[in-house]
Amino acid sequence: MDDRILSSESHGEEFDSELSLRPQSLREYIGQDKVKKNLQVFIEAAKMRNESLDHVLLYGPPGLGKTTLAAIIANELGVGFKTTSGPAIERPGDLAAILTSLQPGDVLFIDEIHRLPRTIEEVLYPAMEDFFFDIVIGKDATARSVRIDLPPFTLIGATTRAGLLSAPLRDRFGVLNRLEFYTVEQLALIVTRTAELFEMGIEKSAALEIARRSRGTPRIANRLLRRVRDFAQVNGNGFIDFEIAQSSLIAMQVDEVGLDHIDHKLLLAIIERFRGGPVGIDTIAASIGEESQTIEDVYEPYLLQIGFIQRTPRGRIVTDLTYKHFKLEVPNT
Ligand code: ADE
Repeated sequence: MDDRILSSESHGEEFDSELSLRPQSLREYIGQDKVKKNLQVFIEAAKMRNESLDHVLLYGPPGLGKTTLAAIIANELGVGFKTTSGPAIERPGDLAAILTSLQPGDVLFIDEIHRLPRTIEEVLYPAMEDFFFDIVIGKDATARSVRIDLPPFTLIGATTRAGLLSAPLRDRFGVLNRLEFYTVEQLALIVTRTAELFEMGIEKSAALEIARRSRGTPRIANRLLRRVRDFAQVNGNGFIDFEIAQSSLIAMQVDEVGLDHIDHKLLLAIIERFRGGPVGIDTIAASIGEESQTIEDVYEPYLLQIGFIQRTPRGRIVTDLTYKHFKLEVPNT
């Protein structure tokens, strides 16, 4: 099959090394305690009944471990794991090829499921509900619909935008889980675990310093750790102490709360060009030359979480915290 559609996960060096760092079991997976606890029960119940696990929707900001968790679910169930993404499935035939390649009980992971074309969604409904789909064979007068039965399987959908999913698709998931930002302590554990896998020594205060600047996101924590490791190996003796961690993070322009130059550009644009807001997302996007969608999916969730931005019916506003962060005078309102 075209591996553009269905991949066994190979997306370049950083992604591969990311893969080998990923926890393989719920026990190894740090954080998301509520989600883990519930999944443990659902997985065990499905195994006891010898059934496929109900379909699972994982949603939340990027980098919080949706793909990792999906792979763990397959692992814990002891079934195969196939992955694809919404935009990769263009025609009903693409989906048919994927579905017919599944073994009984397998997990099919569809990343960015909100980007699945509507025509594909409709083929997916009966596949999810009753494990069959209809495909049209032939053309015009000879066209006929053929029903193909499928083995029972578990669909795990991941999205950063649960709100964009159509109601009928959302309703077909039996398990809905929202992933939350991680605490600094959880991220420090993840950084320490990754450093161990790299066979690098790291001071606790250094792990905490990286964690503090990782925007609640393991993917960012592991990325920052890789770069700090570079500094520690080139400029130091390979051990990651607090000073190396801090100076590397400053060199990479990651500030004390994890904001980078794009966050700064965004916040300062609202302050300087729109008097602190309210201003619409498209106007902000145009003024700093970023996509609205990227701002909404990638930058804004954490800025909302830490209270630097608020959403109002008339647009985004910055808060007193934002002015204080930039050591600017808070304007009188
Ligand atoms: N690496 C990335 N995310 C992780 C997590 N949640 N637990 C353990 N290791 C991780």
